[in-house]
Amino acid sequence: MPIAIAIDGPAGAGKSTIAKLAAKELNFIYVDTGALYRTVGLAATKNNVEPKTSVQVDELLSKIKVELTFNHKNEQIVLLDGEDVSSQIRTPEASMMASAISAVPAVRAYLLDLQRNIAKTNNVIMDGRDIGTVVLPDAQIKIFLSADPEDRAKRRYDELVEKGMDVKYEDILADVIERDYNDSHREIAPLKPAEDSIMVNTTGNTLEQSVELLIGIMKENM
Ligand code: DC
Repeated sequence: MPIAIAIDGPAGAGKSTIAKLAAKELNFIYVDTGALYRTVGLAATKNNVEPKTSVQVDELLSKIKVELTFNHKNEQIVLLDGEDVSSQIRTPEASMMASAISAVPAVRAYLLDLQRNIAKTNNVIMDGRDIGTVVLPDAQIKIFLSADPEDRAKRRYDELVEKGMDVKYEDILADVIERDYNDSHREIAPLKPAEDSIMVNTTGNTLEQSVELLIGIMKENM
């Protein structure tokens, strides 16, 4: 049976960067489930769909096609109706839309099998908010990765500035706090550690320190 490692935690804790490097080291496939919610969010924006209007969301889900593929370097690519939207889903607006749309039960149900199916046939490190609690409750290793909001906002800010985006630290911090609230207070699959999660807080760590820490935990528990 393939091995599954679940990494959950709030936005900006470094989940994706760390999980990506750990997956390379362990030769696992890295699955970024946030990208799927971002893709549905992008589809909603493109179609002027309001996340709170469930009829509109249901109709949207019945007509779009979200696919997850991997290139020759095992890097994840998300397709919306056949188009690679991997970079379009990375803006702050797309983050907010993803957070809003991810609270809709029909959206979560729509993406569930897509996520589970990958783990049926591959060793995966999957990152998200509800991987250890809902998507892969039988994952062999569950890690809940967090860091203080200021630390996470600073990382996100540096990432966006590096990409050439014109953003303000205060706005990013406000977004981080708002998204934390949305993600952990929604009724369905809220952000919370599974009972058997290993809790890791990376505040103040360098990326290298966090990667080393997590790979150590994974190897110890495999
Ligand atoms: O990890 P991310 O920032 O790319 O995720 C974008 C949004 O998607 C986030 O605000 C919460 C939501 N999400 C979720 O509800 N469940 C997941 N497994 C992954 C992401």
